[in-house]
Amino acid sequence: MRHFDFKNGHMHCEGVSLSDIADQVGTPVYVYSSATFERHFSVFTEAFKDQDTLVAYSVKANSNIAVLASLAKLGAGADVVSGGELARALKAGIPGEKIVFSGVGKKPAEMHAALTAGIHVFNVESQAELDVLNSVAIEMGKIAPIAFRVNPDVSAGGHEKISTGKAENKFGIAWSSAEAAYAYAATLPGIKVVGVDVHIGSQIVDLAPFETAITKVGGLIKRLRAQGHDIQSFDVGGGLGINYGNNAVTPPQPSEYGAMVKRLTSDMNVKMIFEPGRMIAGNSGVLLSEVVYVKDGEDRKFLIIDAAMNDLIRPALYDAYHDIEAVRAPGSNMTEVLYDVVGPICETGDTFTKRRMLPEMEAGDRLVFHSAGAYGAAQASQYNTRPLVPEVLVRGGEYHVIRARPTVEDILAGESIPDWLDAP
Ligand code: LLP
Repeated sequence: MRHFDFKNGHMHCEGVSLSDIADQVGTPVYVYSSATFERHFSVFTEAFKDQDTLVAYSVKANSNIAVLASLAKLGAGADVVSGGELARALKAGIPGEKIVFSGVGKKPAEMHAALTAGIHVFNVESQAELDVLNSVAIEMGKIAPIAFRVNPDVSAGGHEKISTGKAENKFGIAWSSAEAAYAYAATLPGIKVVGVDVHIGSQIVDLAPFETAITKVGGLIKRLRAQGHDIQSFDVGGGLGINYGNNAVTPPQPSEYGAMVKRLTSDMNVKMIFEPGRMIAGNSGVLLSEVVYVKDGEDRKFLIIDAAMNDLIRPALYDAYHDIEAVRAPGSNMTEVLYDVVGPICETGDTFTKRRMLPEMEAGDRLVFHSAGAYGAAQASQYNTRPLVPEVLVRGGEYHVIRARPTVEDILAGESIPDWLDAP
């Protein structure tokens, strides 16, 4: 479901014209719909309304504090993977007890901050990490609640760079050592075992791998309980894919995913934890950009736009497809042209798409990349000293700039020239 539609010849986000945002804020800019965020979150919670559940939104997908605050209002928790994300979640009003901390490389200072915040659970990924967490907790006079993230060795499709549940991936405790890890954890005074966690990958468009992993981990939960561990929660991670508009794949509806998880877990007597990211944020946002030049190549036409791979890296990094649409509604007599859509960065990889049929455009025309609400702004950089792309949140007929475009002075502010270079 997208809240991006044409009205009066111009694409709108809810009640706000994207042309107005482009005029007032400039381009490139990310534009998000509050209504879509809310709808996607509610669809998810709807599916599990009669079960003890924590929906810990995966902050990495879109970590702007205004986005987090709007989800917090709906009761969302947060899945964080760094001290920085933890600080964002807390600042946005997500209570510590609704925060889960994932990631393979947590450092003592991050553990300290999370224990101070009283987070719900640490998803621990190795025995080495567990030992450090135990020491930090003892030093602070606290007990750290933990689940082990187990690696179920399940292949979950998607792009190889975002698949995580295979034995060869760096994630989770090896399946064959899971029970020994729990037995060891039970001996540590700073640790309390509370659950089991699994996450097999992202943009998964088929329920089967989820089903295999949940069933496998369900068996492990039974064995762990038989061994005396008090397993209270089962975190099934995130990973549900979304429709990017290329019609190549139709991901399951969240309600179908919900029904499947429910069917497999209803008799387990556990609190279910979910870490959805893309499913909530992906179709809630677009990247709005302007055509700078149209250029005739030897054998093709290039649309050179003012957004680049530093603003939206998914096509360059994962060959990802994003629907592209003109902001001005194409008239009935419009011509369609095959374009390569490229950014201004000095790399051939700065190509959003090749040979895409789009309405004929000229310099100054605006276009959007759909499904850019997840892993768009969150993965942006300032490569080529291009200021970090700003973000706008729309709600009904109003909008707010939730991250301002930095100036070049802002970018340079943290850099300094040593005295020995005789700075100017
Ligand atoms: N939980 C854990 C432990 C994760 O590692 C991730 C994503 C999630 C939850 C959320 O997964 P989601 O529901 O969003 O699929 N940058 C890539 C995606 C990387 C996903 C990393 N982990 C992309 O643009 O496609």
